Amino acid sequence: MAEYVLGTHDEELWRLGLQHQVWRAQATALWETAGFGPGQTLLDIGCGPGFCTRDLAWVAGISGRVIAVDESPRYIDFVNNTPTGVGAAPIEAHLGDVQALDLPDECLDGAYARWVFCFVRHPDKVIEGVHRALKPGGRLVIQDYVHYLAMGLSPAGPALDRVAAAVRQSWALSGGDCNIGRRLPHLLTERGFRIDHLEPKVRVGTPGTLLWEWPTTFFRIFVPTLVKMGLLTQEEHRAFTEEWEQRSLDPQSRFYTPIVVDIVATKLD
Ligand SMILES: C[S@@+](CC[C@H](N)C(=O)[O-])C[C@H]1O[C@@H](n2cnc3c(N)ncnc32)[C@H](O)[C@@H]1O
Repeated sequence: MAEYVLGTHDEELWRLGLQHQVWRAQATALWETAGFGPGQTLLDIGCGPGFCTRDLAWVAGISGRVIAVDESPRYIDFVNNTPTGVGAAPIEAHLGDVQALDLPDECLDGAYARWVFCFVRHPDKVIEGVHRALKPGGRLVIQDYVHYLAMGLSPAGPALDRVAAAVRQSWALSGGDCNIGRRLPHLLTERGFRIDHLEPKVRVGTPGTLLWEWPTTFFRIFVPTLVKMGLLTQEEHRAFTEEWEQRSLDPQSRFYTPIVVDIVATKLD
């Protein structure tokens, strides 16, 4: 199985931890909207190192159960070797492709996927597998990009715009779609889900905040990869580094995140 485009090395694992801190409140609010709660069996689709998985284990509680699936052996090991806490649900982490989920029929009350659909070649297969595994009335919660190139600086930052376009290309080359949120509603309703909640979200960060750190860590890790992939020149890399460093020193700078869409969908009977 090809590894996901951002890799599974230590720095990416740490970046996912920071990312989780930045976006955690949005995730937990959406789980509440979806009615995730104690005693339920919940699935974390493409769990990565399990930052959401461990939070979901607290939501499901001691009488619940959390299943986590990811294609990365490194991340699954990390999930299995990181304690949750007394009172949290037990976590079962499985190595596997979320496009070929192999769970018993109608075993889940809820399922969650954050920034996974944007990386898979066959989102319809993921939805099909989740639909089979959910009980009727069970909820699928998704947070993913709907307009990636909405990301940008204020005042405008042309070097960042160039990097964002290269990121988009890199995901497309490995079968992903960084505007997947636009296709999801149709794919969900086609497969027998009802959309209960659909809300685009954009956030704005300033230098010195955790929200500014989020793109900073992403670019530090991934921009050199874009050069190696031939999607960005050394000169564009240099121009971007200079632009980002300058903006990071200016308290008036603003970073607009890509537009993320929050979706809650219910499996119809
Ligand atoms: C950006 S990370 C998000 C991790 C986690 N959902 C979170 O929000 O912290 C994307 C994850 O999707 C996983 N992934 C991508 N394609 C996959 C596939 N086809 N099957 C299983 N996992 C996949 C990657 O290994 C990676 O851990």
